[in-house]
Parts: sequence; C-alpha cells; structure tokens
Amino acid sequence: MPRDLTGLLAPSSIAVVGASATPGKIGHALFSNVVAFPGPVYGVNPSRSQILGRPCVPAVDDLPESVTLAIIAVPPADALRALAACGRKGIRNAVVITAGFKEQGGAGIERERELVRIASQYGMNVLGPNAFGLISPRAGLNATFAPRGAFAGAIAFISQSGALGSAVLDWAWQNEVGFSFFVSLGNKAVLTETDFLPALARDRETMVIAAYLEGIEDGPEFVRVAGEVTREKPVLVLKAGATEVGARAASSHTGALAGSDRAYEAAFRRGGVLRVRSVEELLEAAVALSEQPLPRGRRLGIVSNAGGPAILAADAAVEHDLAVPPLSPPTVRSLAERFPTASIANPVDILADASAAGFRDAVDLVLSDPGVDMGLVLTAPHPILTFAELARILAASHRKHGKPAVASFLAGELGEEAEKTLRAAGIPAYFEPARAVRALATLARYREIRDRPLSVRPPPAADRARARELLASGSPRLGVESLGLLAAYGVPIARGGLARSAGEAAALAQDLGERVVLKVVAPGIIHKSDVGGVRIGVPAHEVGGAYREMVGLAPAAGVYVQELLPPGQEVIVGIVRDPTFGALVMFGLGGVFVEALGDVAFALAPLSAPEAEELVRGIRGFPLLAGMRGKPPVHLADLVAVVERISHLAAEFPEIAELDVNPILCYPDRVVAVDLRVTVSGAEGLPRGRGQP
Ligand code: COA
Repeated sequence: MPRDLTGLLAPSSIAVVGASATPGKIGHALFSNVVAFPGPVYGVNPSRSQILGRPCVPAVDDLPESVTLAIIAVPPADALRALAACGRKGIRNAVVITAGFKEQGGAGIERERELVRIASQYGMNVLGPNAFGLISPRAGLNATFAPRGAFAGAIAFISQSGALGSAVLDWAWQNEVGFSFFVSLGNKAVLTETDFLPALARDRETMVIAAYLEGIEDGPEFVRVAGEVTREKPVLVLKAGATEVGARAASSHTGALAGSDRAYEAAFRRGGVLRVRSVEELLEAAVALSEQPLPRGRRLGIVSNAGGPAILAADAAVEHDLAVPPLSPPTVRSLAERFPTASIANPVDILADASAAGFRDAVDLVLSDPGVDMGLVLTAPHPILTFAELARILAASHRKHGKPAVASFLAGELGEEAEKTLRAAGIPAYFEPARAVRALATLARYREIRDRPLSVRPPPAADRARARELLASGSPRLGVESLGLLAAYGVPIARGGLARSAGEAAALAQDLGERVVLKVVAPGIIHKSDVGGVRIGVPAHEVGGAYREMVGLAPAAGVYVQELLPPGQEVIVGIVRDPTFGALVMFGLGGVFVEALGDVAFALAPLSAPEAEELVRGIRGFPLLAGMRGKPPVHLADLVAVVERISHLAAEFPEIAELDVNPILCYPDRVVAVDLRVTVSGAEGLPRGRGQP
C-alpha cells in the first residue's frame, strides 16, 4: 500500500517547532517562509506568545488543535521529544530539518533509530531528518529556510542533498521554472523517494519527476514502483556516487550505502527511469519533458540559418541515436519554392538573412512532414530576426503539429534574451546545439519507455528439486561437476561425468569420442587451467594415465571427463548479487573480450525473453554473434533462452552468491554450456546470506 502523503504535501494547518524571532536563525528563516501559508500556522517556542504575527505556544502539547503538519527545527534531543509529542497529539506528518542524526555517525545513528521508532509507533510520515524541507507552491507552502521560494509549475523535484536542492531552487527562480513540489529527502529515515513517486505521479499538475539521489535503500521496491510510475510520468534521476571516489563521498554525506553503479544502471533500465549525468542535464530534460509533447519516433528535422551549428546538431543527433532523415519529396518541393536559394536537405539551411516569417514557413513545412517526429531551430544573432517573434512562431508551430520543437541560439547576451523569451512561450532553448538535441533525445527515450510492452517473466519449466539438491551439497564452491544445475533449468550442457578412479575415467571416455577433455575437480583449485588441471583433446587410451597425474595436483574429488567440442564462439553468462537490487545477470563474449575489454552488459534477474535478447544485443561485440566476415551467425534464440533460464535460476535461488557459466560455446545450430563456477552462500565456509539483498 503506498503511503498517503496528502497531509504532508497539501496540509491544512501547520506548526513550526523552533520558530524563532531572531533573524539569522534557521527557525526564523523557516517561519518567515511558512507564515505565507494561507491556513492556520502556529509557532512553538518556549519564550514567545507571537512571532511574525502568528500565535506561539510553549510546547506541542499546548497547540490548540492537532495540525496536519509539524515542521521541526530544534536541536536534536529536543527534536525527538517534539516528534513524540506530535505523535501523542495526533499529528501524522512531520518534516525534521534538524541535523545530527545518522549522517553524523556515533550517537546520531542511535538518535535516528529512535526517530524511526517514534514514527512507526504513531504511524507518522516523517520527512528527514537533516532535510532542507518541502515546498508545495500550489498549496502556498514553503517549509524550507531557502531565501526564495518557488513558482508553481509542472516539475516535481526530489533531492537527497539539501544544498543541491537549494541551488536548484535558485536556478529555477532565475529561469522562471516552476515546481509542482520540491522535496528535500534528508536522511530518508522514514520516507524515501519510493514513497514519493506514486504520490507525485498521481498529481495532475506534475508532468515530470526529477530526482537527485545518492543511494536507494529499498532497491527491489524502488524498481517495482518506478516501473509502474514511469508508464504515466517520466522519472529523471541524477545518481551521484557513480565512481568509487564519488561513492565514498556519498556515503559520508548522508550515510547512504551506494550500491554498485552497474546495478543502478540495470535497475534504472528495468524501472524505466531516465538516468542523466549532470545537474544541467537533469534540469534541461525536466523542462523539456514538462513543456513539450512526446515525439512518435526518433526522426529529427533541423531548420537553421547557420550552417556550422546545424552540422554540430546533426553530429549530436548521431551520438544520441536520432535520425536526421531526408525530407519527403512534397516537403522538399514546397521548401524549394519558398526558399529558392536555400539548402533544402535536412538540416534545412534558410541562409543568414532569414526573417522570422521565413523561419515560420520553414518550421511549418518541416514539422508537417510525416517523416519528421520533432524539430530543432538553430540560429545565430541577426539584425532582421526578432527573437520574440521567433518564439511566438515556434510556440504556435509545436501546438499546431503536436510535435516537440526546441531551439538553440548560439549567441551571447542576445541569446540569453532569446532563451528567456522562448522559455516564456514554453519552448526550451539552449546555447549549445548538442544540448538541444540531448533534450529531444530524452523525449524520444521517454516515449519508448512509456510505450514499452509490459514484461511478463514466466518461470521456465525446471527440475527445481534437483537444483536445490546440488546447491545443498554443503560445499561453498561448485564447479564443472555441478553442470547438472544448469541442465536442471533446461540449459544444454556438454556431455560428461565425474570419474573417481582411472578406470572410471577410461570408461567414461569410451562413450564420449576418440578424444576428450579432462578437468580436475578439487575444491582447493580455483583456476584449474593455471595449474595444469585441464587437458584438452586427450586420446581415449591415455585417459587413465592422465587421470592419475591430475589427481596428484591437489587433494581432488576426481576428474571430470567431458566430450571435446569443436571451436565455437565463446560467451560468458554470470550472476552477481548486488546488496541493493539483488541478482544481476552479466553477459559478455568470452576470453579476452571480458578480461581486456570489459565488453559486458548487466540486467536485473529474472529476465523475460525480450529482455534477455536486449542484454545479448547490448554488448559492443554483438556483431561477432550475428555473423560477420563470412562467419555464420550463432543460434540467437537458443542463446537468449540460455540467458533467460540462468537468470531465473539466479532469481529463484538466493543462496547463489556468484555464478559464472564460462564458456558457453555458441554454434549456428546450438549453444552448449561447458564450464561452471558457483559460490554458494550459507554453505560451509561462507557466512549465511552473504551478498543477498
Ligand atoms: N520546543 C520549542 N522551541 C524550542 C525548543 C523546543 N523543544 N527548543 C528550543 N526551542 C526554540 C529556541 O528557544 C529557539 O528560539 P529563540 O530563537 O526564540 O530562542 C529556537 O527554538 C531554535 O532553537 P536553538 O536552540 O536556538 O537552535 P538553533 O537555531 O541553534 O539550531 C537547528 C536548531 C535545528 C537549526 C540546528 O540544530 C540544526 O540542526 N542545524 C542544521 C540544520 C540543517 O543543516 N539541516 C539540513 C539542511 S540540508
């Protein structure tokens, strides 16, 4: 059940604990903002009966009514007492501005536990602690201590960093960008981003949710909720801590445990979250998504009176996977009639002396073209052109055609003016053409996310009892002798068996062909090949002798005798368990491609068949699997099925801490798993639950 955050986001009465009459104090700045609220506002302060014209009571218990929202800004120990008093009074929503909790370590951690305990005792929605506050412009609520508030608008902004939130507020004020809600999460002791997503998505004025996050605590729940929300509203996330150094800074900032970046990437993809890489991109994408319609596809039409910037824009389009296709013949004819000396290819260059009317006609023609999904207008300063006029034209044009249109002005002061004029008309405008293209690409990405088919991941038929039995062998590490684990999930494996004597080895070899592969099975040996523990192409009559040599390498359970397969394209499928998001599936080409080039892709387990195919196609080396230079393609459907099945094995057995199927040999007509390494948690030698979510 999602939490009901109505009382927090749209309260009817408010108390500020720690309201102060002393300028320079947070309690004063905060109360100065809160008093603008149109409903009843009370201060709680032991030594005042009135502050800024509002009544004050000495303690929460003395409030004349049980308000909907309490904002707490008193030193930490007092904050806990005040929160408990609010709970007793029946107040169900609180914003705790006070710092000195988990982020401080030591006693702060215990204080935060106490805060969570109080919140759950009274069933309270608590934002923070260590939060910058909350703004709900339509409700007339500014519960922050920011020097300026926010305009009402269509962007819901969530920030895990108060300072970043404050900076964004200031930027938005200057650029006249409005918010439906502004939420500073602070330490997320009780309420997290996951609680806010559904509430913000339900709000009719909210067109886009933009978030700055340093970590996510409830990984699987976040992915589930985001998956639902992003079908209705776009969610943009700037995730800090992508690098190891950054991740350490994130931990010390709010005490958040940043998970690995690969896992976040996979989780955002699964949840349909649009990941951005900078504050600038976050804001620009939020503005574009809040103001523009979504394109039907990725085909961009460019109109310009400046050749160079148009080429830059076309380059950026390639980088962002947007097409800049030739225009349709009727569009080309009409453009040629209207602009006899212009360059009519896409980009359309209507030359330096283009007037506003010229732009109007060109934009109109290009956006009317059925082969164009979105438009970009580029210009440099020119005496004939008035930007106000151009802004009007563009605004009218995108309304008329229902296609997104953005602008880029390469200019100094004149450009700034133009950008403001355009923004006022609801047209995002940028100095740099590449930024304009990036914003359009985000619109296209969101369109694809919104329209993606619902994923159904039916568990494959499998012999789960057999898999459970193999995993419960008591050994923390399983190898090639446990290939049956994969077979239990329907993954084709190379034929073979474990021999415990030279005689058994020779007998097994008889059934496997003239030459076989021998692999020592010894718990102490992790890299078999490095110590001569793998012999390839051993003639059947030499198997007995080879057996005796190999078991002498280390205390060994025996030697695995396996059929010798012809060379094929090697791939690897792996499983790792991320502490935040659970099982991740990795796919890559085997050998040097994994080790030297790191050409691998990750996704959250379990996978549907289309998701498994997306993962396989997601590596740079995919053309090698698709067949090139006369080599036939591998059997893609079988490979996809193998990836899908291994992903389900991982999802269904959390005791699999790590798993490598390496290599899997791929041929045009089949795919065969040849070797396996599994680390089982809970088995002897490894602590129970290691690496589990
Ligand atoms: N109930 C009601 N009022 C109380 C109170 C209580 N239990 N305890 C103190 N007050 C009053 C004080 O008398 C004072 O009012 P006054 O100015 O009229 O004397 C006011 O509340 C503030 O208390 P004070 O002791 O002066 O605290 P402070 O202003 O020095 O610090 C915080 C309070 C919350 C600002 C501070 O503890 C803090 O956490 N600062 C960091 C906040 C932060 O960075 N948050 C994260 C943002 S991203």
